[in-house]
Amino acid sequence: MPRLPNRTLEEFVKDYERTGQILRPNPDWEEDLRQTVVVTPEIAARVRTYTQVQKKKPRPECRCQEAVSRPGVAPLIELNDGKTIPSLGLGTWLGFTKTGDREPVKDNSVQKAVEIAIDSGYRHIDTAAIYSTEQQVGAAIRKKIAEGAVAREDLFVTSKLWNNNHAKSAVVPALKMSLAKLGLKYLDLYLIHWPIAQTSLQEHATYADIDYVETWEGMMEAQALGLVKSIGVSNFNVTQLDRLITMSKVKPAALQIEVNLNLQQEELIKFCKTHNIAVIGYTPFGSLFHNRAAKDAPPPRSDDQTLLKIADRHHKTVAQVNLRYLIELGVIPIPKSVTKKRIEANIEVFDFQLNQQERDVLKSFDRNYRTIAVTMWKDSPYYPFNK
Ligand SMILES: NC(=O)c1ccc[n+]([C@@H]2O[C@H](COP(=O)([O-])OP(=O)(O)OC[C@H]3O[C@@H](n4cnc5c(N)ncnc54)[C@H](OP(=O)(O)O)[C@@H]3O)[C@@H](O)[C@H]2O)c1
Repeated sequence: MPRLPNRTLEEFVKDYERTGQILRPNPDWEEDLRQTVVVTPEIAARVRTYTQVQKKKPRPECRCQEAVSRPGVAPLIELNDGKTIPSLGLGTWLGFTKTGDREPVKDNSVQKAVEIAIDSGYRHIDTAAIYSTEQQVGAAIRKKIAEGAVAREDLFVTSKLWNNNHAKSAVVPALKMSLAKLGLKYLDLYLIHWPIAQTSLQEHATYADIDYVETWEGMMEAQALGLVKSIGVSNFNVTQLDRLITMSKVKPAALQIEVNLNLQQEELIKFCKTHNIAVIGYTPFGSLFHNRAAKDAPPPRSDDQTLLKIADRHHKTVAQVNLRYLIELGVIPIPKSVTKKRIEANIEVFDFQLNQQERDVLKSFDRNYRTIAVTMWKDSPYYPFNK
């Protein structure tokens, strides 16, 4: 079954250009082209020349989040350091248990999820030292590379530095440990997971008196060593981000924060747009699903009638509408799922657009309500929330 029926060569090229894929052609592009038109040597030569010309052109300001592209392909967004990041990724944190501990890794479901994700078109995978999923993420990536399904340079792999490794001298060894677990030579993005430094791995450990500006120097060193392409931070507020930018030579390429319908982060997103910092949105579903919503969580749930109507209008699910809305806010969502159908559906959000009226409805659910509040750290001088 052709994946791109009834399209002319010009439409094909235009689509690739619009989605940013022309700059780093998707490994499937020749196959896609073959299924679109009969590829004569003349057509192949034209596309090759076109690709080369586009590669040499100065890159325009990326407006990928506004574009509608092919289903299953997340357009690339340019970072402030010249690298690119796919505009949707797969999360791999297993979450908390009912008693509030981290869900233990019991089986190889994360490895399977990453394999399914790569087969479904995901090129961006999010993990962290604290999730204990780096081994499985790495195993899946290496398997897919060995199978020839994807090349390392087409993947965007993120990991994060945990709070117990905030001393400048601890950053490179911690990153090397993550790389060893992943079985990779480099990361695409390494984030300071929290602005808070702690003395040991335990969540209830005491605070270490280390300023994140010092930690950032370790991150810059890791980047200079070529162990990571881009560096960024997570869970920083506007004041902390501003201070980091003012006091450091390298600007963070990305900020990863919670963004969902109940926490739309207008101020932080605006700040990041002004400073050309990409915003990666974690816990993108927030309290949308009944089984994940706390008793006090504000609406909506996935059976909300207004959301169902919007979803029906676009022949999409409520979960897909939720993700599309975040993309249109300029956010790169990283939905987590270990369920094949959901993994596949969560990336099918680049072939439709919401209208202003629909966006207004979605905006109305913003309550500044946090799913991940980490109140156990509220006494830290670096606690990022409500400041
Ligand atoms: N930087 C940070 O501090 C931080 C904090 C939290 C999370 N993160 C990152 O962000 C990622 C995503 O956040 P999250 O895991 O907290 O939450 P999330 O992605 O908003 O939600 C995950 C939950 O939603 C379910 N789900 C996924 N797609 C669905 C669909 N289409 N329909 C119905 N249910 C669906 C999943 O179930 P199944 O898996 O059973 O399918 C899982 O229970 C994490 O995995 C992690 O990589 C970063």
